[in-house]
Amino acid sequence: MRTGSVRDPANPSATSRVFAHVRPLFFAHGGHARKSKLRAVSEEVEGQVRVDGELDAEAQVRRRLALAQVRQYPDPVLRMRAREVTDFDDELRALVTRMKQLMQDAQGVGLAATQVGIIRRLFVFVPGREEGLEPIAVVNPVLELGSETDLDDEGCLSMQGVTVPVERATTVTLTAKDEKGDDLRLELEGLAARIVQHETDHLDGTLVIDRTDDASRKEALRVVRPRPILVA
Ligand code: CO
Repeated sequence: MRTGSVRDPANPSATSRVFAHVRPLFFAHGGHARKSKLRAVSEEVEGQVRVDGELDAEAQVRRRLALAQVRQYPDPVLRMRAREVTDFDDELRALVTRMKQLMQDAQGVGLAATQVGIIRRLFVFVPGREEGLEPIAVVNPVLELGSETDLDDEGCLSMQGVTVPVERATTVTLTAKDEKGDDLRLELEGLAARIVQHETDHLDGTLVIDRTDDASRKEALRVVRPRPILVA
């Protein structure tokens, strides 16, 4: 993967970051060889969720505590359309900091504000799979989808234990604000493009079960409907 940074000549204040992925983006059906424990966490990504099979004990505890703060299906908040953010204030930046921490603790690659009960058009995401990539905050996103699509499995921090096949555009132009209110313009492809489509869906109350086939939806609902409440 290549990461570049260029200025958009039409809008010099906007930073346009380009992420090009060269490897297959999703491990849809498992079965690939695992490497070391440390690499497993960052390399095995299913949709919004990193697979936690080889997390150490402390990381597993952190993940469980984080997930306990993420609204779980069928919480009605997940079906609400989030409102535009108008105030780029300290409160917004504190929320971004909290969401980035939660996403990382939960081993997620994206988290929308609606998933923590804040009905605002804001999400955070990690723009790739490499170690050390900084999470990005996206406010009031507008997506322009490319015409090519692919089908791959996605998970969701609000639907634990579920992955379903979802068709997504393979390239996306994202126009938004960052948490300071500055213009943000990202040309994304592959995993990053898929994540921002997933997160923007959250802001519209749309979930992966709305975008999958009937059989996969039924199977997913069988998993998430009778969830016991876990209290830690
Ligand atoms: Co999700």
